[in-house]
Amino acid sequence: MFAVERSRSIAELFASDSDRVDNLTLRMGDLVVDLSKNLVDDRAIAALLRVASEARVEAAIERLLDGSIVNLTEQRAAGHASLRRPEHLRSSVNGVDVTADVNEVLERMRSFVADVHSGRRVGSTGRRLTTVVNLGIGGSDLGPAMAYEALRSCRVAGVECRFVSNVDPADLASNLVDLDPAETLFVVASKTFTTAETLANARAAREWVIAALGERATAAHFVAVSTNLEAVRAFGIADDEMFPFWDWVGGRYSLSSAIGLSLMLGIGADAFDQMRAGMHAIDEAVRSTPASANAAVMMALIGIWNRNVLGLPTKAVLPYSHDLRRFPAYLQQLDMESNGKTVRVDGTRAPYETGPIVWGEPGTNSQHAFMQLVHQGTTVVPVDFIGFAEPSSAAENTGDPDDSRHRTLFLNMLAQSRALAFGRSLNEISDGPFAEHRVFDGARPSTVIVARRLTPSVLGQLVALYEHVVHVQGVIWGINSFDQFGVELGKEMAVQLASSDDAHRGSDPSTHSLLRWFHGSALGSDGG
Ligand code: F6P
Repeated sequence: MFAVERSRSIAELFASDSDRVDNLTLRMGDLVVDLSKNLVDDRAIAALLRVASEARVEAAIERLLDGSIVNLTEQRAAGHASLRRPEHLRSSVNGVDVTADVNEVLERMRSFVADVHSGRRVGSTGRRLTTVVNLGIGGSDLGPAMAYEALRSCRVAGVECRFVSNVDPADLASNLVDLDPAETLFVVASKTFTTAETLANARAAREWVIAALGERATAAHFVAVSTNLEAVRAFGIADDEMFPFWDWVGGRYSLSSAIGLSLMLGIGADAFDQMRAGMHAIDEAVRSTPASANAAVMMALIGIWNRNVLGLPTKAVLPYSHDLRRFPAYLQQLDMESNGKTVRVDGTRAPYETGPIVWGEPGTNSQHAFMQLVHQGTTVVPVDFIGFAEPSSAAENTGDPDDSRHRTLFLNMLAQSRALAFGRSLNEISDGPFAEHRVFDGARPSTVIVARRLTPSVLGQLVALYEHVVHVQGVIWGINSFDQFGVELGKEMAVQLASSDDAHRGSDPSTHSLLRWFHGSALGSDGG
């Protein structure tokens, strides 16, 4: 892919270019993206921009945002940009005008949310619905759950949201333990409405409601978000209690669709709309900004450099924001389910590495856990730091002029990025025992993304920024970022193992042995 030599150390790169920070600090919407502490020089950037141009990245962005069929293996558009376009603008997906459909669902969501908040929509006994439990997994959980934490400062009083995803009964049980069924609303969120985990939890939740309130109560306590009307009906949820979306919305790209219903219930329609507006602002900025000044394209290109030239297998995303603590988990699905692929769109195997392993935790906690390895380990880990000038909410200021915790948080982020880039040589360490253990090589790349405050709009901007990074990388790697066949085999095998006693006999010896052990050990088993 490249015929460019490996770059010099980050310290040398700064020493040789006094404009480096200015040149490599890009603005997009309210986000400021400092790329200067990455291991790229002018020649590397020129080579990367040539790669983007040869891959026709700009045209690919245009096709994505225009609603063309970009998910070639499933012959679908990836039309998530239509979900956040201002309502007066026309959106089309695969040539079909979807403006009215998108606006109508948004309006239904707003009206439902207003009814729950005002108490017009109540539970079966007439009590207000004070807890929303979202039952969904993957894209039907991670986005809304992440955003609900991130936008804590926007939460509507009187309604609490919980997110249950795991088929492990502990997840649902621990979330229901202190709830009153009469005041609980379940949002069953599943694009396909066939996902085993979600349906199993929905059935268990229904039993919980029936046990307390009777069979007829369920209608008042369940709504659905899905593309599959028939399956929702079969579950027993009426058509007018289902909020639809469409097969051209990928699960991991569905935050601004009806999948955001629980989030909208939790933070209100205005904040939800501000988040959508932030996403749209980035869509338009990515569309209209030339590659070299385009934060999404440049982040994607530097990611390609790290992966394909420097050979770095992972990437850490470290928000210096407690409210963004679920952002790395959200990004894991966005990035790894999109670009964790070996076969390219043309059916050939990629002769180079594709999507990195994405992981992370918020700072400063990460500093007291895994940052040792990131600073001194034998594996170099590129890092995206994300931080804010102000705390999420004014209420966080205790009023004590000596309360410098937010400042401490931000300065720690800068210190980490600086230490990674510039390290500390043996010469800089005063004599003493074990001096070599205190050497930091430096030259470890990082990107710093900052904004004034984590508002709904800024969260939407961050989400859209990363969506475009992932898309651009997929285009360059020649892979389809919008399918996920890699999740199928395990699902099929789980069904197979559950289906009959005979099925596991044909399985491999290890599975067979573990299954026998499980049957022998499970509570209530006859030991057979
Ligand atoms: O198994 C992976 C996946 O299909 C994701 O792509 C999706 O976000 C998740 O499962 C949940 O799917 P659904 O919304 O159809 O229940």
